[in-house]
Amino acid sequence: MSETIINRRQIHWFPGHMAKTLRLMETEIRHVDCVLQVLDARIPLSSLNPEIERITAGKPHLYVLNKADLADPAITRQWLEYFRSAGEGCLPMDSKQKGRANAVRAPIEQELAALMERRRAKGMVGARIRVMVVGIPNVGKSTFINSFAGTTRAKAANKPGVTRGKQWITVGNYDLMDMPGVLWKKFDSLETAANLAFIGSIRDDILDVEELACGLLSSVRGIYPQRLLERYKLPADALELAPYDLLLAIGAKRGMLVSGGEVDAERAARTVVGEFRASKWGRLSLERPPQLPQPEGDEDAEKDS
Ligand code: G4P
Repeated sequence: MSETIINRRQIHWFPGHMAKTLRLMETEIRHVDCVLQVLDARIPLSSLNPEIERITAGKPHLYVLNKADLADPAITRQWLEYFRSAGEGCLPMDSKQKGRANAVRAPIEQELAALMERRRAKGMVGARIRVMVVGIPNVGKSTFINSFAGTTRAKAANKPGVTRGKQWITVGNYDLMDMPGVLWKKFDSLETAANLAFIGSIRDDILDVEELACGLLSSVRGIYPQRLLERYKLPADALELAPYDLLLAIGAKRGMLVSGGEVDAERAARTVVGEFRASKWGRLSLERPPQLPQPEGDEDAEKDS
């Protein structure tokens, strides 16, 4: 199903302005002390842009698992362990909370310990810390920056791929370089592409909403089957249905019928995608750290959510 979301039609999720952003990053990277890559806590690996990794390699790095308030807390803990055990600075974040983003100061200063020490030795107390804030579209960079600033400085929008240039935002002794959201040209797996589509990082208007909903149902029923059954008041055997039939069953339950009594599949699909994105299915994570076995069911995750 994931294959059809992305591959059936020629989908251009990498417009020219994204290539331009990557080039801009390449020239601007030398002007910053460190990089803060904002990831989506529900899909930390799928939202980790390999092009950003390439361009920013060699700079101190901090990973922010944003939208942690939407993710399964038990799985987020596993992700933190995963990143930290690889020696990477990483912390969970709910950027919608004003001021919460200040929690990145200590880990950034820890990442920059050597630089801070050199500056102190030279008497450069209070020197500015320059941070490049990067990530895929819609991951919450603007919201994060506004939370850090304690006021609205960066423009938040729910449309991925809104074209913007870089902008510097000054907060105390920090200068944040806000970069436009950027994807990459060739996704390594269809699962990655589908995950990015589910969370709204690929523009919806180039996707087929019914395929998107079917892919999402198919993915979530494998990890959190109970959530779907409870949300849509479906019998257990609905999980055996093909994804499109499951979508129709949900539409029928919600009374989304068109004349003739058939289910309005498009309306059902919009509802399914919209409810997932609005976190109506509860907190859930679509990806597990690679080295850990995939769960059989979702009992443990459910307990913690
Ligand atoms: P971007 O700059 O990376 O493109 O993302 P942006 O800040 O515009 O955020 C995209 C959407 O994600 C916004 O929702 C924003 O509120 C939401 N968001 C950002 N960070 C978090 C977070 O930590 N937790 C949750 N739950 N949501 C977050 P929106 O629907 O476009 O706007 P709004 O109606 O929420 O204002």
